[in-house]
Amino acid sequence: MRHSRKIEYGTFAVWQCEQKYSVTIRAANLSDVAGVAKVHIESWRTTYKGIVPNEFLASLSYKQHEELWFQVLKNPRRAKFVFVAEDERERIVGFTSAGPERTGETPYTSGLDAIYLLAPYQGQRIGRRLAVTLVNRLIQEGMTSLLVWVLAANPARKFYERLGGQLVYETPTTIAGASLIEVAYGWMDSRILIEQAGSTSTW
Ligand SMILES: CC(C)(COP(=O)(O)OP(=O)(O)OC[C@H]1O[C@@H](n2cnc3c(N)ncnc32)[C@H](O)[C@@H]1OP(=O)(O)O)[C@@H](O)C(=O)NCCC(=O)NCCS
Repeated sequence: MRHSRKIEYGTFAVWQCEQKYSVTIRAANLSDVAGVAKVHIESWRTTYKGIVPNEFLASLSYKQHEELWFQVLKNPRRAKFVFVAEDERERIVGFTSAGPERTGETPYTSGLDAIYLLAPYQGQRIGRRLAVTLVNRLIQEGMTSLLVWVLAANPARKFYERLGGQLVYETPTTIAGASLIEVAYGWMDSRILIEQAGSTSTW
């Protein structure tokens, strides 16, 4: 469903569509390997330009990413949950994935590994729809708290703040020789993320 809002201009009013694209969210399957790998690489290149060295971004391999996502999606009993956002032409324009928190050294039961949209699809509520769908699935599996790591220099950290994430950890990291800071946002009760995302009736 498209979300629109009425904007008043004096005696005139127009309905402004906030979503340019009609996008469906669904669980990923094996036929999504190439689409997910493509979004993963293209969104990395636009998101981390100026943060991560250019040569590293240029060297990202579609073949390797396809193999990575094939290994994840081929296992029907995988612990990782993956959802995709698909446009009207059934092209993957975004995805998200999460599973049990990897280190076991935090109080959080699940960890969000990735949430990426192609640049033209950002800022249209698709990210929050992906996040809510994913979190609902994790809760069904008994994983009721959530942790996500994000580069401190990535403006997308505001997305997690907007969804009620608390800044809980900070650590130095290195990507392709660049010294960076990673921060983590946590939700001890993942239902807060769902509440903060707002009513689904307008999506
Ligand atoms: C992060 C991302 C998934 C968010 O999805 P989205 O569809 O763009 O976000 P939404 O439209 O659902 O926005 C939800 C809220 O978060 C805020 N937000 C989202 N991205 C933001 C950003 N980069 N900077 C500031 N605020 C942001 C929005 O303003 C919105 O708040 P509002 O309801 O008060 O307007 C998407 O922007 C993206 O793919 N970014 C590039 C990849 C990336 O950085 N991924 C995270 C890696 S850790």
